[in-house]
Amino acid sequence: MQFEVIAKCHTTRARVSRMNLTHGVTMLPTFMPVATQAAIKGLTPQQVEALGVTLILNNTYHLNLRPGMKVLNQAGGAHKFQGWHRNLLTDSGGFQLVSLSKFTTITEEGALFLSPFTGEPTMLTPEESISIQHSIGADIIMQLDDVVSSLTTGPRVAEAMERSVRWLDRCIKYHEGSGKKSTQNLFAIVQGGLDPHLRHQCLDAMIQRKNDISGYAIGGLSGGEEKDVFWRIIKLCADKLPEDRPRYSMGIGFAEGRNFLLHLLVCVALGVDMADCVFPTRTARFGVALTHAGPLNLKLSKHEADMNPIDKSCPCPTCTDGTSRAYLHHIVTHETAAAHAVTIHNITFQAQVMGGARDAILSGTFPEYLRSFFAGYFGDGG
Ligand code: GUN
Ligand code: ZN
Repeated sequence: MQFEVIAKCHTTRARVSRMNLTHGVTMLPTFMPVATQAAIKGLTPQQVEALGVTLILNNTYHLNLRPGMKVLNQAGGAHKFQGWHRNLLTDSGGFQLVSLSKFTTITEEGALFLSPFTGEPTMLTPEESISIQHSIGADIIMQLDDVVSSLTTGPRVAEAMERSVRWLDRCIKYHEGSGKKSTQNLFAIVQGGLDPHLRHQCLDAMIQRKNDISGYAIGGLSGGEEKDVFWRIIKLCADKLPEDRPRYSMGIGFAEGRNFLLHLLVCVALGVDMADCVFPTRTARFGVALTHAGPLNLKLSKHEADMNPIDKSCPCPTCTDGTSRAYLHHIVTHETAAAHAVTIHNITFQAQVMGGARDAILSGTFPEYLRSFFAGYFGDGG
């Protein structure tokens, strides 16, 4: 990976950088659409690529279950399997094991779970997670981490943080010996819950391993903690992480709904370069279009005869090809075409917001950009 910081905001910690991976350049800060099952719901990879998206997220846990490693190896990796030519990031699987399965047990060896298909006890070790991510062939791969909910307190939080450091060492070792280092980039995941002391300890340990790591993620958040607590931990981590590595805030503002854009832009102001969230694509499937004047619920009858597009200034195919709000309202509850059209718009909107942030950082106007974005989004315009 080549990573270069190009510009910094003078009043916040926001920065613009250029990340060159095996499948091309991605400009940061960026928002990564989530394609858990190797598909952004409702869109083909070609459509996503045509919207200018250069980095998406897949999930190791899901791809390992289905289609499975045999098929992925036969395909020659997930890029070829899905026909995606740009960059790909995979999460390591641990978080999904803990959040999706009641029966996962963490041991020092790895995460023990019951296969949802066969019911057999199955172990996911740090080495195996990296090995699966090698088969998938993602440009950015994540360490296996021991994740606890951000609301967990007591000794389990320290244990999970310390184990995540030990598992990072196993991931580094496995990755080193694999011959994949020149095409796949390993990220560490900082844990430590909401405890600043544990976060500092984790950061110290993981920063020591900097030469073996291409970037850093901040994990263990967005589990229902208060916003200000979330931002404090993001700030603590982003302030300490090395300048010359990308910083990724994992699963941002999942529960925040429309406020996730606030979360995202505050993270950018605190020095975060990459973030993902299912909100823009999920809300699209419920008929909600994101706009600079706030979310637009196309199911509401006030759109019944509104011949305007979702957003006159939006360059997406849905808004420029004459699709009216009235038409989307008409089909929104029963035609999947509505979900496609709104997903295309929301992904474009999201890319516009991040592109606007990058331009503003480059031109020294990021604080003004934030002010005008929030005035529109939370103002009375919608
Ligand atoms: N997705 C959201 N949070 C996390 C985390 O802490 N670890 C991993 N691996 N994935 C996540
Ligand atoms: Zn649009």
